[in-house]
Amino acid sequence: MRGDNEMLLKDKVALVTGAGRGIGYHIAIEMLKEGAKVVVVDLATDQWNSDTMEGTFQKDKDFFVYQLDITDSESVRSLVRDVFDELGRIDILVNNAGINRDSLFVKMTEKDWDDVLNVNLRAPFILTQATCQEMIKANIEGRVINIVSTAGKHGNFGQANYSAAKAGLLAFTKSVAREMARYGIRVNAVMPGLIDTPMARSLRADILEKKINEIPLKRVGHPKEVARAVIFLSSDDASYITGACLQVDGGLRM
Ligand SMILES: NC(=O)c1ccc[n+]([C@@H]2O[C@H](COP(=O)([O-])OP(=O)(O)OC[C@H]3O[C@@H](n4cnc5c(N)ncnc54)[C@H](O)[C@@H]3O)[C@@H](O)[C@H]2O)c1
Repeated sequence: MRGDNEMLLKDKVALVTGAGRGIGYHIAIEMLKEGAKVVVVDLATDQWNSDTMEGTFQKDKDFFVYQLDITDSESVRSLVRDVFDELGRIDILVNNAGINRDSLFVKMTEKDWDDVLNVNLRAPFILTQATCQEMIKANIEGRVINIVSTAGKHGNFGQANYSAAKAGLLAFTKSVAREMARYGIRVNAVMPGLIDTPMARSLRADILEKKINEIPLKRVGHPKEVARAVIFLSSDDASYITGACLQVDGGLRM
């Protein structure tokens, strides 16, 4: 554990979507270690339902658990109001929750398209808007970090819906960065490559092996390696960075 004055996010309040597992879970843990209070949002929050996490952090003191579906706009808007009422602020929003519904484009159903666009693109729009509105009212120089994907840069076989959503989220990041700069709110993206989470583990073994071979660093990434990039962009160390996209992909799409 770092000393108080070495912590990068001391006294900040962060809201992380999809923090129930995978990359979002590690983002939340790293934020706690850096001194932030963390609002954990997910459909499934089992990992957070003990009173202490990693023997140190306490529920309802250091972390706050909201089990909800981020595609439900009403719940999302009332979540943001709740957090401002209860904790007085949100300094950092991480739009991390994402899903994939892979299929060949010619066979892709409208539902596969809509579900992926709703979670990966529409929900971040609602959450970012609701949060930025409150940040502006409260004069908070906030930070928004959107988790995109190398699929949104180069496309991916079987992921027309997911790639389109992630490319959209990256363009959204840049437009919102331009509009929010005048309020001191920084908006950036982190672009993971192949990271060791349940999402990546759902790939067929032969496809996984082929992908690892394409990665210059010749391995999958650990979710903590993505989390540390999010911590950097959330911290004052990144005070002159907005509208940027930090790739954490072992060199895959350099
Ligand atoms: N794992 C990778 O290799 C990889 C690569 C590039 C980008 N990403 C992106 O990183 C982010 C996290 O991915 P991951 O691998 O940790 O995925 P994951 O599937 O392990 O975790 C995603 C979490 O989001 C939650 N979630 C999904 N839909 C939700 C909803 N409607 N409301 C609330 N919560 C919801 C899930 O319950 C889950 O806990 C995603 O945006 C993903 O697209 C992952």
